[in-house]
Amino acid sequence: MTTVRFLLNDRPIEAVGVSPTTTLLGYLRASGWTGTKEGCAEGDCGACTVAIVDAEAPGGPRFRAVNSCLVLLPMVQGQRVYTVEGLRRGGAYHPVQEALVDALGSQCGYCTPGVVMSMFEACYRGDLDKPWKLDDQMCGNLCRCTGYRPIRSATVTIAGRRPSDSFSGALAEPAGDRGFRSEHPGAVFITPTREAELWEALAEHPAAKFICGGTDLSLAVTKRFEELPEVISLEGLADLRRIERTDGGGWRFGATALLADIEAATEGELVPLHRMLRYFASRQIKNRATIGGNLCNASPIGDIAPVLLALDAELELRSAGGSRFVGVDHFFLGYRKTALSPGEILASISIPPIPAGARASAYKVSKRRELDISAVAAAFFVELGPAGEVTTIRAGYGGVAATPARARHFEAALEGKPWNRSSVEAAILTLHDDFTPLDDHRGSAWYRRTVAANLARGFFLETEEDDHPDLPDRPSGTVAVEVSR
Ligand SMILES: Cc1cc2nc3c(=O)[nH]c(=O)nc-3n(C[C@H](O)[C@H](O)[C@H](O)COP(=O)(O)OP(=O)(O)OC[C@H]3O[C@@H](n4cnc5c(N)ncnc54)[C@H](O)[C@@H]3O)c2cc1C
Ligand code: FES
Ligand code: FES
Repeated sequence: MTTVRFLLNDRPIEAVGVSPTTTLLGYLRASGWTGTKEGCAEGDCGACTVAIVDAEAPGGPRFRAVNSCLVLLPMVQGQRVYTVEGLRRGGAYHPVQEALVDALGSQCGYCTPGVVMSMFEACYRGDLDKPWKLDDQMCGNLCRCTGYRPIRSATVTIAGRRPSDSFSGALAEPAGDRGFRSEHPGAVFITPTREAELWEALAEHPAAKFICGGTDLSLAVTKRFEELPEVISLEGLADLRRIERTDGGGWRFGATALLADIEAATEGELVPLHRMLRYFASRQIKNRATIGGNLCNASPIGDIAPVLLALDAELELRSAGGSRFVGVDHFFLGYRKTALSPGEILASISIPPIPAGARASAYKVSKRRELDISAVAAAFFVELGPAGEVTTIRAGYGGVAATPARARHFEAALEGKPWNRSSVEAAILTLHDDFTPLDDHRGSAWYRRTVAANLARGFFLETEEDDHPDLPDRPSGTVAVEVSR
């Protein structure tokens, strides 16, 4: 049992004697802060959304809407947390609350607190410069009775407004210390803030599980009711969060870089990765999920791995003894099994520059365009020689085998061949040697095999176009409304 200290709606809180695997949502509701609701307890509905100040965000402190059902209490140590109860100041509702009322955006009110908190982040964002970003901001909040049009209209009126108020003032306050240590038997949770502390903690607790955003691991607690007796959080290690350009135009992502930050940094710069992130989960999830967590959970349907396979990424695995480097195509050893040895963390991911003239793209096929798990994800890279022959081709797939993997037969069938429709069709015939697709409720093996082939065709057709196609600005089903700024 342990004590977690944080600021809740600007009041200091000491959560004494709680289990470190208590969720922030569970703590809030048990302490009487019942404005924040529980719907799904797995990050899908948004009813539990709260805002947390991310003091170390690239570009400066900012609010982040997050799913409190997936945040374990020690993760808010030293942080500022805001819930729907904290927005009313001096007897007046916050502009986002006024906007939702004015647009008739609330009925039963079960989803409303979460909607308000996602709008709250939107209100203080300075980067909502395209309509699809507004959809993305709100797509993690389900509402069954009001309808999304009034909610969206309300959000449009407040997005990017950034009033000079006490909340803007809170962003300028010094950051708290995230370091945390609870070492009671069966309830070990350590957040080191220096790397030396990490290795010490690991030497003391070699069986500890790592956690970062917790958008995967917290489900072990909330859905599978498992115990997590020993946990080491990597979130306090600021160096692991850097996003950097490397010489020649490559990229280096610290393993704990948030997907929301990578999405923002790669816009118009690293199109395949940005495109995949556009259709990855919700804003609340991307505000917590890390690139390293996505790789280390080694899910066969993880969306980032196919992109990194196509882009030939290299992973830095670090232990107390130093770093070693492995290609991402040697990282996944089997179902949910990686090349990480005990005592090693994934520290960074490097992507080499994409040469001028080479083409790369990424695709995700799921039952629903927004906030859904892939049936099949694929990414491709091709470089041609002077006579139009394929000199390098890489095809990374997810959802078609026990691990994300390269389609080696497909690639071999294309190497040295002219990059044309008949070569691609011939190579597609070899895809059945590459994969034995999963057969489950998200798609039959036949469906996945067919989609895998069609994505390869789609990539070829995309390369036939002269320009480098980016995303459509917004999903086709939404209305065109300008974001007010
Ligand atoms: C509602 C919802 C929607 C989602 N949608 C998608 C989606 O569209 N596409 C998709 O691919 N995934 C999706 N996910 C899964 C998840 O969000 C991602 O896999 C995410 O990137 C995991 O990152 P994390 O930091 O939260 O991982 P955590 O939960 O913190 O950790 C995941 C695993 O990786 C290990 N780990 C984490 N970081 C490291 C490290 N640096 N070194 C060693 N081990 C490490 C942990 O021990 C743990 O086993 C979704 C999840 C939810 C709940
Ligand atoms: S309760 Fe549904 S997202 Fe948290
Ligand atoms: S207002 Fe009823 S579900 Fe949202």
